[in-house]
Amino acid sequence: QTIFRGRHFIDLEEFTKEEVDTMLEVSFDLKKKFAMGVPTPYLLHQSMFLMFFEQSTRTRNSMEAGFAQLGGHAGFLDSSSMQIAHGESAKDTAIILSRFGHAIACRYCNWGYGNKYLTEMAKWSRVPIMNLQCDLYHPFQALADLMTMKEKIGDLKRTKVSIIWAYAESHKKPISVPVSQLLLFPRYGMDVCLAHPKGWELPDWVIEKAKANAAKFGGTVTVTNNEEEAYENAHIVIPKNWGSWVNDQTGASIAGATKVVDEKLMAQKSWKCTEAKMATADKDVMYMHALPADRNNEVEDSVIDGPHSIVFDEAENRLHTAKAVMTLLMGGR
Ligand code: CP
Repeated sequence: QTIFRGRHFIDLEEFTKEEVDTMLEVSFDLKKKFAMGVPTPYLLHQSMFLMFFEQSTRTRNSMEAGFAQLGGHAGFLDSSSMQIAHGESAKDTAIILSRFGHAIACRYCNWGYGNKYLTEMAKWSRVPIMNLQCDLYHPFQALADLMTMKEKIGDLKRTKVSIIWAYAESHKKPISVPVSQLLLFPRYGMDVCLAHPKGWELPDWVIEKAKANAAKFGGTVTVTNNEEEAYENAHIVIPKNWGSWVNDQTGASIAGATKVVDEKLMAQKSWKCTEAKMATADKDVMYMHALPADRNNEVEDSVIDGPHSIVFDEAENRLHTAKAVMTLLMGGR
């Protein structure tokens, strides 16, 4: 029997394909019940803490609303107003909060720190730690993306999905979204194409792990610097900006790498999702984006607002997948 209750949710790689399938089934069930107005008080009287080191619209509100719909109460914690600001450790914070409630969820995207912080909390917490996005993974986003694809397409085998780097004015973004997508989609037999300009590589270990997942589950992973190749005959495109400082050979901090990135970035303005590029994809191609999107830099308005865009369905599914994960980890057996 698969046991979910009490487990941490930091990275979908920690869950088997069958377990991810269960998360999806529960998500679809909760979505249906939500549409029908059927109460889902699976986590009645439970408390959880939502710690944010960075801003959020979708993640915070899907967790907060979702947990209330499950009968619990989620307290929002801005890290700058906690004793973390005075140096209190991840260990002490996790021990204390886990004595007060039933789960702790945290967003901490700072490169080189976020995942380590969550892992340290998981070591000391007596309740589940949930990753609301760190520097390496955004499991809630990838799960909602997968749910949306299943909803639109069904069996995803041989579906060509292209994860494409896109230019954005504000480029201080973690690599967590493309990493989680690249690791998860091949597990569903998809043909995943990762496209980016030279200099925007994801770490080698990510590519190796994604290819291993593809070999195990019948998908494929190709990496290219050719944007045209990514759009050609694609069934799904996900053009999104991701950070480049991770490849800064100097190993500089984000702040230290900014100047280098800015100069490189300006040369890549053509990496934008346009109607012309979408026309080279499959006729039923779908445009996805985790949001927020940098309109008119990452994507033309006519694409994100057009008939091929499913970004709002994708964002809506953040609610249902969040509820499924909370239900399984906090109420499951
Ligand atoms: N996609 C996503 O995580 O959105 P937020 O940053 O608004 O939470």
